[in-house]
Amino acid sequence: MSVRISVIGTGYLGATHAAGMAELGHDVIGVDTDEAKVRALASGQLPFFEPGLPELIAKHVAPGKLRFTTSLAEAADFADIHFVCVGTPQGESGAADLSHLHAVIDGLVPALGRNTLVVGKSTVPVGTAQSLLPRIAALAPSGVDVEVAWNPEFLREGHAVHDTLHPNRLVLGVSSPGAEWALRNVYATPIAEGSPVVVSNLPTAELVKVSANAFLATKISFINAMAELCELTGADVASLADALGHDDRIGRKFLGAGLGYGGGCLPKDVRALIARAEELGSGRSVEFLHGVDAINARRRDRVVEEALSVLRTVNGRAFGRVAVLGASFKPLSDDVRDSPALDVARRLSRAGAWVTVYDPQAAVPARSAAPELRYAANAVAACRKADVVLHLTEWAEFRDLDPRRLRDAARGRVLIDGRNSLDPSSWLAAGWDVRTLGTLVTQEPKAGTQPSLVGGRV
Ligand code: UDX
Repeated sequence: MSVRISVIGTGYLGATHAAGMAELGHDVIGVDTDEAKVRALASGQLPFFEPGLPELIAKHVAPGKLRFTTSLAEAADFADIHFVCVGTPQGESGAADLSHLHAVIDGLVPALGRNTLVVGKSTVPVGTAQSLLPRIAALAPSGVDVEVAWNPEFLREGHAVHDTLHPNRLVLGVSSPGAEWALRNVYATPIAEGSPVVVSNLPTAELVKVSANAFLATKISFINAMAELCELTGADVASLADALGHDDRIGRKFLGAGLGYGGGCLPKDVRALIARAEELGSGRSVEFLHGVDAINARRRDRVVEEALSVLRTVNGRAFGRVAVLGASFKPLSDDVRDSPALDVARRLSRAGAWVTVYDPQAAVPARSAAPELRYAANAVAACRKADVVLHLTEWAEFRDLDPRRLRDAARGRVLIDGRNSLDPSSWLAAGWDVRTLGTLVTQEPKAGTQPSLVGGRV
């Protein structure tokens, strides 16, 4: 059954959710305070890169199934269910800043004219939904019943459309059977297609999201800790991850050792969980997350130090040219928030190096976040006269690069593969000194011979 839905906050999460809801057959209004963004979305333009999303928005804007406004009053009038998708950025203390969420409640609730379900999708500290209830009760017009539910979002950038339409689980944090029924109705299609549903109370639903991200971060830092040991002992972290991953209690996913995690979610959620646990007087419960964060930071230090070791240093200043392949925090995204690649590039630039970056999608946001760096139009141009080449975001096109062309463009011969994802044998064959993070670099075996170990780890 088609539902009239509003999606408040049309950033990454909200724009995707609004388009996804329209695709599931609902009538959707997206709300944002940013007029320019609203105009752009209404004409099918996205202010960020996400495969398949502009097409999905255009498909539903055309027949009027999806529209956008800056007016919360219009949304209040139109919709029966309001999804709140505003940002909860990291505040000074590491705790989440809930001011956007509060502003939505303050603007929406007094405008409501009938009984309504307000569904939080934003990532929030556990206990937030409960804390909103008195605020909502104070603002709701008399006779209007406003119920709160929490339905966290697990979409991955780069796969956002797929993850929204085919969620690998739906978590419905509700306080009444009516709210559960309403949300099951919204998600009737994916539920019919087999997406598992977990119904819980509000704090559980809130905690699922941050704990899922903290767990993923822990998995990445765990394998990066093993990579540190591999570097000291001659073990190979890629084979180790394969061997661990065959145990289906562990699983191979998120055991990709390298430069570590970044982006708008994992780093922020790890710190927000620490901050919330401390606020609750239970910092010890998540003490290990400090280690997770620290291991992640050390990976970046390691790559910076290795690159600097290749450059000439005079009075503590580095001289030389560095090519950085990748600026986004991961491939298939133009997001540079807390990007390990951009962080390393900036630190090398601050140390004195002349740093040129190439990224297939993120040049514009990278340039605005790091205007002090130079940006090239392609990988070969970035590598021109470089003393060292750093591969820091594993875009598929970097795997297809011709190492001989890059060798001819560059001045030096050192490749640091911060993502352990290039094929070392073709780079070695082209004369590169290949350095990785905890993996062994071997020459491809010729038929009938054993592979030869040629060393080369960071
Ligand atoms: C994450 C969660 O996966 C998603 O469920 C949630 O809704 C939002 O946060 P996202 O931030 O889009 O999604 O990126 P993700 O694919 O999880 O990658 C996060 C970071 O971890 C990236 O920097 C990536 O390069 C890094 N990573 C991932 C590794 O270093 N190793 C791995 O094995 C996997």
